[in-house]
Amino acid sequence: RGVVPFHGAQQAGITTDAQDRLAFAAFDVSAGVSRDQLRELLVGWTAAAARMAAGQAVADDAAAPHSPPRDTGEAIGLTAGNLTITFGLGPSLFDGRFGLAGRRPAALADIPPLPGDNLDPLRSRGDLCVQACADDPQVAFHAVRNLRRLAQGTAVLRWFQLGFGRTSTTSSSQDTPRNLMGFKDGTNNVKREDTASLDKHVWVGADGDQAWMRGGTYVVTRRIRMLLESWDRDFLLDQEQVFGRTKTSGAPLGAAEEFDPVPLTTRGADGEPVIPADAHIRLAAASTNGGATILRRGYSYTDGVNQETGQLDAGLFFIAFQRDPRTGFLPIQRRLAASDALNEYIVHTSSAVFAIPPGVRDPKDFWASGLF
Ligand code: HEM
Repeated sequence: RGVVPFHGAQQAGITTDAQDRLAFAAFDVSAGVSRDQLRELLVGWTAAAARMAAGQAVADDAAAPHSPPRDTGEAIGLTAGNLTITFGLGPSLFDGRFGLAGRRPAALADIPPLPGDNLDPLRSRGDLCVQACADDPQVAFHAVRNLRRLAQGTAVLRWFQLGFGRTSTTSSSQDTPRNLMGFKDGTNNVKREDTASLDKHVWVGADGDQAWMRGGTYVVTRRIRMLLESWDRDFLLDQEQVFGRTKTSGAPLGAAEEFDPVPLTTRGADGEPVIPADAHIRLAAASTNGGATILRRGYSYTDGVNQETGQLDAGLFFIAFQRDPRTGFLPIQRRLAASDALNEYIVHTSSAVFAIPPGVRDPKDFWASGLF
């Protein structure tokens, strides 16, 4: 019940129906760790992840009452909750420490500084990442916690982000959720049924420059704080013009239903475009970005109160998958950063990019085995 298959051509947690909860962690490999030790970590992590995805404990501890339990225990009695654990490698892993410099795909390049960024370096980047998604927050937390535990002595947590509500749909059978600004989010996302679009925009094809990444993808994460106090004082009409959609129904302005085509070329009686020139959905649309298309799979987050301002520290933990961030996230974000009406109400506070290798084929295989 609630089990998403762990093994397959692609990793789960990308086109899998977006679950409700997120626990996303970035790790740095510790100084002095060898390539063999890194390989061992990935073998151990993969085995543990396969067990947890099946709703099992990392290990059966009953036989060893005089050792610390090898599973931390908080998921005992819970279902797998559609847990997916998705693994990735950051650009810094290819800096020469492990003799992997020649294996770095060109697409795995740090995201350059972008206008409006206010990034916290301690919440950005990382050698490795683990995205755990589940319909139960404790199941997602348990997955990351136990992988961290297995990494003791080999890798340390660099940053950790919890997300409490999905802000996307990755399948046409899912309802569109709402983000913290109260708008439906994910309407015009790439859906898993659209395999032609996934092959074109998400999965690395046979022409990928590194054979070990073929069938994989790349993830870009951005922690985007929403200035909710300002947003909540804005008029409804202005809020709708910021996105270019109606708040309640999610329909594009100038259209009737949520999934109606976005009327990008229609003008109103006043001669102005019904979707304003600086509306988020105009500037983010593939048709206005030379076809740049990404699979969004982000989550709402809150980390309490921002102690400097006394305001809510909450927003969108943006997650997007694409076959090459240089032709996916980057051109879209450059355009948004320059003129999105939404910029008045958001601040990007962290940034990371990771290569997501293809799926683990069977129980003998392991994450990123093609690298070793
Ligand atoms: C569409 C919200 C950041 C890319 C949308 C929609 C909403 C939304 C409500 C309309 C519904 C939909 O089609 O999903 C937000 C919020 C953001 C944010 C609140 C920040 C806090 C970003 C970023 C990117 C992005 C950083 C990429 C760099 C897109 C794309 C679409 C979209 C590609 C679909 C446009 C279309 O084809 O109609 N977003 N978004 N968004 N957003 Fe964002």
